Amino acid sequence: MLNNNTFDMKSENRGSFSSKIGVILATVGTAVGLGNVWRFPYVVGENGGGAFLFVYILSLILLGIPGVVAEFIVGRHSQANAVDSFKKLAPKTKWHWIGYSGVLAGFLIMGYYAVVVGWTLEYLIQAIAGNLSNMTTAQYGEMFDQFASHPYLPLIWMVIVMFINTVIVARGVSGGIEKASNILMPIFFVIMLIMVVNSFFLPAAKEGLLYLFKPDFSQLKPVAILIAMGQTFFSLSLGMGCLITYSSYFKKDVNLPKTAAQVVGIDSLVALLSAMIIFPAVFSFGMAPEQGPSLVFKVLPNVFQQMPVGTLWSILFYALLFIAALTSLISLHEVVTAYLYENTSLSRKKSACLVAGMVVLLGVFASLSFGVLSDVKIFGKTIFDLLDFVTASILLPVGGFFISIFVGWYLDKRIIATELRIKHPKAHLFVKGYIYLMRIFVPTCIFAVFLFSMFG
Ligand code: PFF
Repeated sequence: MLNNNTFDMKSENRGSFSSKIGVILATVGTAVGLGNVWRFPYVVGENGGGAFLFVYILSLILLGIPGVVAEFIVGRHSQANAVDSFKKLAPKTKWHWIGYSGVLAGFLIMGYYAVVVGWTLEYLIQAIAGNLSNMTTAQYGEMFDQFASHPYLPLIWMVIVMFINTVIVARGVSGGIEKASNILMPIFFVIMLIMVVNSFFLPAAKEGLLYLFKPDFSQLKPVAILIAMGQTFFSLSLGMGCLITYSSYFKKDVNLPKTAAQVVGIDSLVALLSAMIIFPAVFSFGMAPEQGPSLVFKVLPNVFQQMPVGTLWSILFYALLFIAALTSLISLHEVVTAYLYENTSLSRKKSACLVAGMVVLLGVFASLSFGVLSDVKIFGKTIFDLLDFVTASILLPVGGFFISIFVGWYLDKRIIATELRIKHPKAHLFVKGYIYLMRIFVPTCIFAVFLFSMFG
């Protein structure tokens, strides 16, 4: 299927992010998305609030930062996609199966992620049309349920989303999206901050913030620890080679540990701010925190309606959420497309279209699981929930486990030292410490969490 010349040409023309700010924006672009604003608050709500938050923060520091650095090392050193990076660094071994698992995870996540990005677009249009105001809490709930269970409306939005996404990916991740994020992400922050301040004035602000920040460990089920770890991987785009693919476009002067810490910091801040907006509102409007995926769509319009010029805020918010989600969807699409493009004779455009077609097919099932397929349950979960659980809580942590074993035990220490490039008289101690983390600590933690959640 592939002759060597095509392969060489394709891998030579891979391109790179042009500036350091481009690196941060693109990486924050993949990390900050629906995982922070949509998934994080409902996962916290379903798993008992403060105690869950505590475990999540622990997991971000202990597994998240070292994990991001590990993918950066593999990606930048190999300058290749999620599968070929392992083939280059570990020729004639089976390590590249980690990459296959990542490509599969990317595809499965897109199957439901695109559905939710579609919901965001619907809410943006409704906000522009001025339809997100003057309703009661119950009416906002009904509005979402009717829309999500509609036989074809959400599907149309999903197809539009995949179309936009494919056009961007087919052209390569251009300066356009980097520049757009440069302007839009700061605006996104400002809006979130204004909304947080607004939440402090809601009637049940204290209750909401206590729910979020006061840990009650008796509420923490063993499986919640697995879910916290899954959320860490999902939110940081970790465990499926996405960060390997992105860092393969990094130049040699990018400081990997510093970039990792910055990305994890910004990502966590966005998640925290979202939760600080959602929970005071949930309690003020008499809703239950454990509503699942529909939570933010039912709660936020109600918050906007209480604010002066609410329609304007809701338009801005959904527009920016759409953009944040799109930059993440692009990165998911890029993982699968980069693999296909660099390993077949297909053009970038054809590879991107093929991936989009398959995602739409899967997305139909995910979307209909809120409507006609809502009774179809596999292991007690709807198709949508199953895709989410299998990817976030299983495939990504398993991917992370093997990547850490790979970096800790297989990869030449000199490669790690070169890529970390720590300028400090005791640099070798940092490198040693990092290798210890990846060899023993990180894999043991992931393994222990799996055992504990299954049998705990
Ligand atoms: N990190 C993204 C979010 O929080 O929405 C989701 C995601 C993107 C997961 C890319 C995995 C990935 F490779």
